[in-house]
Amino acid sequence: MPQKGKTNKPVASAAKVKDGKNLYIGIDLGTDHTAITTSDGKKNSILSLVGTPRDAIASKFLKKERLFGEEALNHRVALNMFRPIENGVLKNQREDIEAARGLLEFVMRSVGAHRGAKKYAIIGVPAQASVLSKKIITEMAKDFFDGILVASEPFCVAYNLGQLEHSLIVDIGAGTTDLCRVHGTMPDPDDQISSIKAGDYIDRELMKLISDAYTNVRLTTEMVKRWKEEHSFVGEPKEEITVEVPVDSSVLKLSITQEIKAACESIIPDITSGISKLISTYDPDFQDDLRSNIWLAGGGSLIRNFDVILEHELELIDGGKVFKDKDPVFGGADGALKLAMDMPAEFWHTT
Ligand SMILES: Nc1ncnc2c1ncn2[C@@H]1O[C@H](COP(=O)(O)OP(=O)(O)OP(=O)(O)O)[C@@H](O)[C@H]1O
Ligand SMILES: [Mg+2]
Repeated sequence: MPQKGKTNKPVASAAKVKDGKNLYIGIDLGTDHTAITTSDGKKNSILSLVGTPRDAIASKFLKKERLFGEEALNHRVALNMFRPIENGVLKNQREDIEAARGLLEFVMRSVGAHRGAKKYAIIGVPAQASVLSKKIITEMAKDFFDGILVASEPFCVAYNLGQLEHSLIVDIGAGTTDLCRVHGTMPDPDDQISSIKAGDYIDRELMKLISDAYTNVRLTTEMVKRWKEEHSFVGEPKEEITVEVPVDSSVLKLSITQEIKAACESIIPDITSGISKLISTYDPDFQDDLRSNIWLAGGGSLIRNFDVILEHELELIDGGKVFKDKDPVFGGADGALKLAMDMPAEFWHTT
Protein backbone atom coordinates (compact mmCIF):
# COMPACT_ATOMS: atom_id res chain seq x y z
CA MET A 1 0.00 0.00 0.00
CA PRO A 2 1.52 3.35 -0.92
CA GLN A 3 2.47 5.60 1.95
CA LYS A 4 2.45 9.31 1.54
CA GLY A 5 3.44 12.02 3.94
CA LYS A 6 4.09 11.64 7.64
CA THR A 7 1.85 11.81 10.63
CA ASN A 8 1.38 15.28 11.99
CA LYS A 9 3.57 16.41 14.92
CA PRO A 10 1.95 14.37 17.70
CA VAL A 11 4.50 15.43 20.31
CA ALA A 12 3.90 19.17 19.98
CA SER A 13 1.77 19.31 23.08
CA ALA A 14 3.03 16.24 24.84
CA ALA A 15 4.39 18.41 27.65
CA LYS A 16 0.86 19.46 28.48
CA VAL A 17 -0.08 15.83 28.89
CA LYS A 18 2.98 14.76 30.81
CA ASP A 19 2.01 16.90 33.78
CA GLY A 20 -0.67 14.24 34.32
CA LYS A 21 -3.46 16.72 34.92
CA ASN A 22 -5.02 16.72 31.50
CA LEU A 23 -6.40 13.91 29.44
CA TYR A 24 -6.97 14.63 25.74
CA ILE A 25 -9.50 12.51 23.89
CA GLY A 26 -10.37 12.00 20.23
CA ILE A 27 -13.75 10.52 19.40
CA ASP A 28 -15.28 9.40 16.12
CA LEU A 29 -18.99 9.10 16.80
CA GLY A 30 -20.06 7.17 13.71
CA THR A 31 -23.30 5.63 12.45
CA ASP A 32 -21.80 2.16 12.69
CA HIS A 33 -18.80 2.47 15.02
CA THR A 34 -17.73 4.73 17.85
CA ALA A 35 -13.96 4.96 18.17
CA ILE A 36 -12.03 6.59 21.01
CA THR A 37 -8.32 7.37 21.43
CA THR A 38 -6.77 8.99 24.49
CA SER A 39 -3.53 10.85 25.16
CA ASP A 40 -2.52 8.17 27.67
CA GLY A 41 -2.31 5.69 24.81
CA LYS A 42 -5.61 3.81 25.07
CA LYS A 43 -8.04 3.16 22.25
CA ASN A 44 -11.21 1.20 21.54
CA SER A 45 -13.86 0.91 18.86
CA ILE A 46 -17.37 -0.44 19.47
CA LEU A 47 -20.53 -0.79 17.41
CA SER A 48 -22.73 2.32 17.85
CA LEU A 49 -25.59 0.18 19.06
CA VAL A 50 -27.73 0.49 22.18
CA GLY A 51 -30.30 -2.07 23.31
CA THR A 52 -32.91 -1.91 26.06
CA PRO A 53 -34.69 -5.07 27.32
CA ARG A 54 -38.02 -5.63 25.56
CA ASP A 55 -39.89 -6.70 28.69
CA ALA A 56 -39.53 -7.50 32.39
CA ILE A 57 -38.35 -11.05 31.67
CA ALA A 58 -35.55 -9.85 29.38
CA SER A 59 -34.61 -7.24 31.96
CA LYS A 60 -34.36 -9.87 34.69
CA PHE A 61 -32.44 -12.29 32.52
CA LEU A 62 -29.95 -9.71 31.20
CA LYS A 63 -29.64 -7.91 34.58
CA LYS A 64 -29.05 -4.59 32.80
CA GLU A 65 -31.20 -1.68 31.77
CA ARG A 66 -29.00 -0.93 28.74
CA LEU A 67 -26.57 -2.92 26.66
CA PHE A 68 -24.04 -1.42 24.27
CA GLY A 69 -22.02 -2.36 21.20
CA GLU A 70 -21.35 -6.03 20.44
CA GLU A 71 -23.10 -7.17 23.64
CA ALA A 72 -26.32 -5.49 22.46
CA LEU A 73 -25.97 -7.09 19.03
CA ASN A 74 -25.51 -10.54 20.56
CA HIS A 75 -28.69 -10.23 22.65
CA ARG A 76 -30.71 -8.40 19.98
CA VAL A 77 -33.66 -10.80 20.02
CA ALA A 78 -34.46 -9.76 23.61
CA LEU A 79 -33.84 -6.04 23.07
CA ASN A 80 -35.24 -2.91 21.49
CA MET A 81 -32.28 -1.75 19.45
CA PHE A 82 -31.23 1.86 18.82
CA ARG A 83 -28.71 3.26 16.45
CA PRO A 84 -28.60 6.79 17.86
CA ILE A 85 -26.53 8.12 14.96
CA GLU A 86 -28.27 8.05 11.58
CA ASN A 87 -26.44 8.99 8.38
CA GLY A 88 -23.69 10.41 10.58
CA VAL A 89 -26.07 12.68 12.49
CA LEU A 90 -27.18 12.26 16.10
CA LYS A 91 -30.97 11.97 16.02
CA ASN A 92 -32.78 14.69 17.91
CA GLN A 93 -35.18 12.49 19.92
CA ARG A 94 -34.83 12.33 23.70
CA GLU A 95 -34.33 8.55 23.71
CA ASP A 96 -31.64 8.75 21.02
CA ILE A 97 -29.77 11.51 22.85
CA GLU A 98 -29.94 9.47 26.06
CA ALA A 99 -28.76 6.38 24.18
CA ALA A 100 -25.84 8.33 22.67
CA ARG A 101 -24.90 9.64 26.11
CA GLY A 102 -24.91 6.06 27.42
CA LEU A 103 -22.81 4.93 24.48
CA LEU A 104 -20.28 7.69 25.06
CA GLU A 105 -20.05 6.87 28.75
CA PHE A 106 -19.64 3.19 27.93
CA VAL A 107 -16.82 3.75 25.45
CA MET A 108 -15.10 6.20 27.84
CA ARG A 109 -15.25 3.67 30.66
CA SER A 110 -13.85 0.99 28.36
CA VAL A 111 -10.57 2.96 28.17
CA GLY A 112 -10.68 4.29 31.76
CA ALA A 113 -11.27 7.85 30.50
CA HIS A 114 -14.15 8.49 32.92
CA ARG A 115 -11.86 8.91 35.92
CA GLY A 116 -9.75 11.66 37.40
CA ALA A 117 -7.94 14.10 35.16
CA LYS A 118 -9.33 17.15 33.42
CA LYS A 119 -10.66 16.00 30.08
CA TYR A 120 -10.54 17.81 26.74
CA ALA A 121 -12.19 16.16 23.78
CA ILE A 122 -12.66 16.64 20.09
CA ILE A 123 -15.53 14.77 18.48
CA GLY A 124 -15.48 14.20 14.72
CA VAL A 125 -18.76 14.97 12.95
CA PRO A 126 -19.70 14.40 9.31
CA ALA A 127 -18.40 16.82 6.71
CA GLN A 128 -21.74 18.53 6.28
CA ALA A 129 -23.12 18.35 9.82
CA SER A 130 -25.50 21.25 10.37
CA VAL A 131 -25.04 23.85 13.09
CA LEU A 132 -28.00 22.23 14.89
CA SER A 133 -26.54 18.72 14.82
CA LYS A 134 -23.19 20.03 16.11
CA LYS A 135 -25.05 21.75 18.93
CA ILE A 136 -26.97 18.57 19.81
CA ILE A 137 -23.71 16.59 20.04
CA THR A 138 -22.00 19.26 22.13
CA GLU A 139 -24.98 19.44 24.51
CA MET A 140 -25.18 15.65 24.77
CA ALA A 141 -21.48 15.28 25.59
CA LYS A 142 -20.58 18.42 27.52
CA ASP A 143 -21.04 17.00 31.03
CA PHE A 144 -18.30 14.43 30.41
CA PHE A 145 -15.59 16.95 29.55
CA ASP A 146 -13.93 20.14 30.76
CA GLY A 147 -13.59 21.28 27.16
CA ILE A 148 -15.25 20.01 24.01
CA LEU A 149 -15.09 20.83 20.33
CA VAL A 150 -16.69 19.23 17.30
CA ALA A 151 -14.60 19.09 14.13
CA SER A 152 -15.19 17.88 10.60
CA GLU A 153 -14.44 14.15 10.56
CA PRO A 154 -12.62 14.12 7.19
CA PHE A 155 -10.49 17.03 8.41
CA CYS A 156 -9.54 14.90 11.45
CA VAL A 157 -8.59 12.06 9.07
CA ALA A 158 -6.41 14.46 7.03
CA TYR A 159 -4.84 15.82 10.22
CA ASN A 160 -3.89 12.32 11.25
CA LEU A 161 -2.40 11.56 7.84
CA GLY A 162 -0.40 14.80 7.90
CA GLN A 163 -2.11 15.72 4.61
CA LEU A 164 -3.26 19.22 5.35
CA GLU A 165 -2.44 20.82 2.03
CA HIS A 166 -4.27 20.04 -1.21
CA SER A 167 -5.67 16.70 -0.17
CA LEU A 168 -9.04 15.16 -0.92
CA ILE A 169 -10.41 12.80 1.71
CA VAL A 170 -13.04 10.22 0.72
CA ASP A 171 -14.44 8.85 3.98
CA ILE A 172 -16.68 5.86 3.20
CA GLY A 173 -18.64 5.24 6.40
CA ALA A 174 -21.89 3.38 7.06
CA GLY A 175 -24.44 6.19 6.74
CA THR A 176 -22.56 8.56 4.45
CA THR A 177 -19.59 8.89 2.15
CA ASP A 178 -18.03 12.27 2.92
CA LEU A 179 -15.72 13.94 0.43
CA CYS A 180 -13.67 16.84 1.70
CA ARG A 181 -10.97 19.10 0.28
CA VAL A 182 -8.34 20.03 2.81
CA HIS A 183 -6.15 23.07 2.27
CA GLY A 184 -4.56 24.04 5.57
CA THR A 185 -7.63 25.48 7.27
CA MET A 186 -10.85 24.06 8.66
CA PRO A 187 -12.96 23.13 5.61
CA ASP A 188 -15.76 25.43 4.38
CA PRO A 189 -19.15 24.06 3.28
CA ASP A 190 -17.96 24.42 -0.34
CA ASP A 191 -15.11 22.02 0.35
CA GLN A 192 -17.42 19.17 1.28
CA ILE A 193 -19.82 16.86 -0.47
CA SER A 194 -21.78 14.09 1.21
CA SER A 195 -23.59 11.12 -0.33
CA ILE A 196 -25.82 8.59 1.41
CA LYS A 197 -24.32 5.87 -0.79
CA ALA A 198 -22.05 4.24 1.78
CA GLY A 199 -21.91 0.98 3.79
CA ASP A 200 -25.59 0.80 4.78
CA TYR A 201 -26.61 1.52 1.18
CA ILE A 202 -24.40 -1.36 -0.02
CA ASP A 203 -26.08 -3.66 2.54
CA ARG A 204 -29.54 -2.69 1.28
CA GLU A 205 -28.50 -3.18 -2.34
CA LEU A 206 -26.97 -6.55 -1.57
CA MET A 207 -30.09 -7.69 0.26
CA LYS A 208 -32.23 -6.64 -2.71
CA LEU A 209 -29.98 -8.26 -5.33
CA ILE A 210 -29.75 -11.58 -3.48
CA SER A 211 -33.52 -11.64 -2.85
CA ASP A 212 -34.15 -10.92 -6.54
CA ALA A 213 -31.77 -13.65 -7.68
CA TYR A 214 -32.96 -16.31 -5.25
CA THR A 215 -36.61 -16.37 -4.22
CA ASN A 216 -37.62 -17.68 -0.78
CA VAL A 217 -34.26 -16.90 0.85
CA ARG A 218 -34.51 -15.61 4.41
CA LEU A 219 -32.01 -12.83 4.90
CA THR A 220 -31.25 -10.52 7.80
CA THR A 221 -29.36 -7.22 7.69
CA GLU A 222 -26.69 -8.67 9.99
CA MET A 223 -26.16 -11.66 7.70
CA VAL A 224 -25.79 -9.54 4.58
CA LYS A 225 -23.46 -7.05 6.29
CA ARG A 226 -21.29 -9.94 7.51
CA TRP A 227 -21.00 -11.38 3.98
CA LYS A 228 -20.14 -7.94 2.62
CA GLU A 229 -17.40 -7.37 5.21
CA GLU A 230 -15.92 -10.79 4.51
CA HIS A 231 -16.04 -10.75 0.71
CA SER A 232 -16.37 -7.13 -0.50
CA PHE A 233 -14.63 -6.29 -3.77
CA VAL A 234 -14.98 -4.22 -6.92
CA GLY A 235 -13.65 -4.97 -10.41
CA GLU A 236 -12.79 -8.49 -11.49
CA PRO A 237 -13.59 -11.27 -9.00
CA LYS A 238 -10.60 -13.28 -7.75
CA GLU A 239 -12.75 -16.29 -6.91
CA GLU A 240 -16.31 -17.50 -6.68
CA ILE A 241 -18.03 -16.31 -3.48
CA THR A 242 -20.46 -18.78 -1.97
CA VAL A 243 -22.45 -18.48 1.24
CA GLU A 244 -24.86 -20.67 3.15
CA VAL A 245 -28.36 -19.23 3.00
CA PRO A 246 -31.50 -20.43 4.78
CA VAL A 247 -34.13 -21.26 2.12
CA ASP A 248 -37.51 -22.54 3.30
CA SER A 249 -36.66 -25.26 5.80
CA SER A 250 -33.15 -26.07 4.55
CA VAL A 251 -29.79 -24.37 4.00
CA LEU A 252 -28.40 -23.90 0.49
CA LYS A 253 -24.97 -22.91 -0.79
CA LEU A 254 -25.43 -20.00 -3.17
CA SER A 255 -23.05 -17.97 -5.29
CA ILE A 256 -23.26 -14.25 -4.55
CA THR A 257 -20.18 -13.10 -6.48
CA GLN A 258 -22.01 -10.84 -8.95
CA GLU A 259 -24.34 -9.48 -6.26
CA ILE A 260 -21.38 -8.45 -4.03
CA LYS A 261 -19.64 -6.82 -6.97
CA ALA A 262 -22.73 -4.89 -8.10
CA ALA A 263 -23.61 -3.77 -4.56
CA CYS A 264 -20.06 -2.55 -3.81
CA GLU A 265 -19.73 -0.83 -7.18
CA SER A 266 -23.06 0.99 -6.71
CA ILE A 267 -21.37 3.68 -4.58
CA ILE A 268 -18.67 4.52 -7.15
CA PRO A 269 -20.54 6.97 -9.47
CA ASP A 270 -21.37 9.42 -6.65
CA ILE A 271 -17.74 9.33 -5.52
CA THR A 272 -16.28 10.00 -8.98
CA SER A 273 -18.73 12.82 -9.67
CA GLY A 274 -18.07 14.33 -6.22
CA ILE A 275 -14.30 14.17 -6.77
CA SER A 276 -14.68 15.71 -10.20
CA LYS A 277 -16.76 18.58 -8.78
CA LEU A 278 -14.36 19.27 -5.91
CA ILE A 279 -11.37 19.31 -8.27
CA SER A 280 -12.95 21.44 -10.98
CA THR A 281 -14.04 24.11 -8.50
CA TYR A 282 -10.61 24.27 -6.77
CA ASP A 283 -8.01 26.97 -7.44
CA PRO A 284 -6.76 26.05 -10.95
CA ASP A 285 -3.12 26.42 -9.87
CA PHE A 286 -3.53 23.57 -7.38
CA GLN A 287 -6.00 21.25 -9.13
CA ASP A 288 -3.25 18.83 -10.14
CA ASP A 289 -1.94 18.68 -6.55
CA LEU A 290 -5.43 17.84 -5.33
CA ARG A 291 -5.99 15.29 -8.06
CA SER A 292 -2.83 13.42 -7.16
CA ASN A 293 -3.58 13.34 -3.43
CA ILE A 294 -6.88 11.48 -2.94
CA TRP A 295 -7.20 9.44 0.24
CA LEU A 296 -9.70 6.67 1.02
CA ALA A 297 -10.76 6.37 4.67
CA GLY A 298 -13.57 4.82 6.75
CA GLY A 299 -14.68 1.17 6.92
CA GLY A 300 -15.79 1.20 3.28
CA SER A 301 -12.18 1.81 2.19
CA LEU A 302 -11.60 -1.86 3.07
CA ILE A 303 -13.51 -2.94 -0.06
CA ARG A 304 -10.92 -4.87 -2.03
CA ASN A 305 -9.56 -3.17 -5.14
CA PHE A 306 -11.51 0.05 -4.51
CA ASP A 307 -8.45 2.29 -4.94
CA VAL A 308 -7.53 0.62 -8.24
CA ILE A 309 -11.03 0.81 -9.73
CA LEU A 310 -11.52 4.40 -8.54
CA GLU A 311 -8.24 5.42 -10.23
CA HIS A 312 -9.43 3.66 -13.34
CA GLU A 313 -12.73 5.58 -13.30
CA LEU A 314 -10.89 8.85 -12.69
CA GLU A 315 -8.86 8.31 -15.86
CA LEU A 316 -12.01 9.30 -17.73
CA ILE A 317 -11.93 12.71 -16.03
CA ASP A 318 -8.24 13.72 -16.28
CA GLY A 319 -6.95 11.10 -13.86
CA GLY A 320 -6.17 10.95 -10.16
CA LYS A 321 -3.91 9.19 -7.66
CA VAL A 322 -5.67 7.30 -4.88
CA PHE A 323 -4.13 6.21 -1.55
CA LYS A 324 -5.60 4.32 1.38
CA ASP A 325 -5.57 5.28 5.06
CA LYS A 326 -3.81 2.35 6.65
CA ASP A 327 -5.95 2.54 9.78
CA PRO A 328 -9.56 3.21 8.72
CA VAL A 329 -10.92 2.21 12.14
CA PHE A 330 -8.98 4.75 14.22
CA GLY A 331 -7.86 7.34 11.63
CA GLY A 332 -10.62 9.82 12.54
CA ALA A 333 -10.32 9.40 16.32
CA ASP A 334 -6.50 9.57 16.20
CA GLY A 335 -6.72 12.79 14.15
CA ALA A 336 -9.23 14.30 16.58
CA LEU A 337 -6.85 13.44 19.45
CA LYS A 338 -3.86 15.04 17.70
CA LEU A 339 -5.91 18.13 16.99
CA ALA A 340 -7.01 18.28 20.65
CA MET A 341 -3.38 18.01 21.81
CA ASP A 342 -2.23 20.67 19.35
CA MET A 343 -4.87 23.21 20.37
CA PRO A 344 -3.36 26.07 22.38
CA ALA A 345 -4.16 25.78 26.11
CA GLU A 346 -6.02 29.14 26.02
CA PHE A 347 -8.42 27.68 23.50
CA TRP A 348 -9.83 25.14 25.95
CA HIS A 349 -10.23 27.71 28.70
CA THR A 350 -12.64 29.65 26.56
CA THR A 351 -14.82 26.65 25.70
N1 LIG B 1 -14.04 -5.27 4.80
C1 LIG B 1 -15.06 -4.42 4.57
N2 LIG B 1 -15.58 -4.32 3.32
C2 LIG B 1 -16.61 -3.48 3.08
N3 LIG B 1 -17.20 -2.72 4.00
C3 LIG B 1 -16.72 -2.79 5.26
C4 LIG B 1 -15.63 -3.64 5.61
N4 LIG B 1 -15.38 -3.49 6.94
C5 LIG B 1 -16.28 -2.59 7.39
N5 LIG B 1 -17.09 -2.18 6.39
C6 LIG B 1 -18.22 -1.25 6.46
O1 LIG B 1 -17.78 0.04 6.82
C7 LIG B 1 -18.86 0.71 7.47
C8 LIG B 1 -18.37 1.26 8.79
O2 LIG B 1 -17.36 2.16 8.54
P1 LIG B 1 -17.04 3.31 9.59
O3 LIG B 1 -16.78 2.70 10.93
O4 LIG B 1 -16.01 4.18 8.98
O5 LIG B 1 -18.48 4.02 9.61
P2 LIG B 1 -19.03 5.11 10.62
O6 LIG B 1 -17.96 6.13 10.85
O7 LIG B 1 -19.59 4.45 11.81
O8 LIG B 1 -20.22 5.71 9.74
P3 LIG B 1 -20.48 7.23 9.31
O9 LIG B 1 -19.15 7.82 8.98
O10 LIG B 1 -21.38 7.13 8.11
O11 LIG B 1 -21.15 7.85 10.49
C9 LIG B 1 -19.97 -0.33 7.69
O12 LIG B 1 -20.96 -0.20 6.69
C10 LIG B 1 -19.21 -1.62 7.55
O13 LIG B 1 -20.05 -2.70 7.15
MG1 LIG C 1 -17.34 7.89 9.95
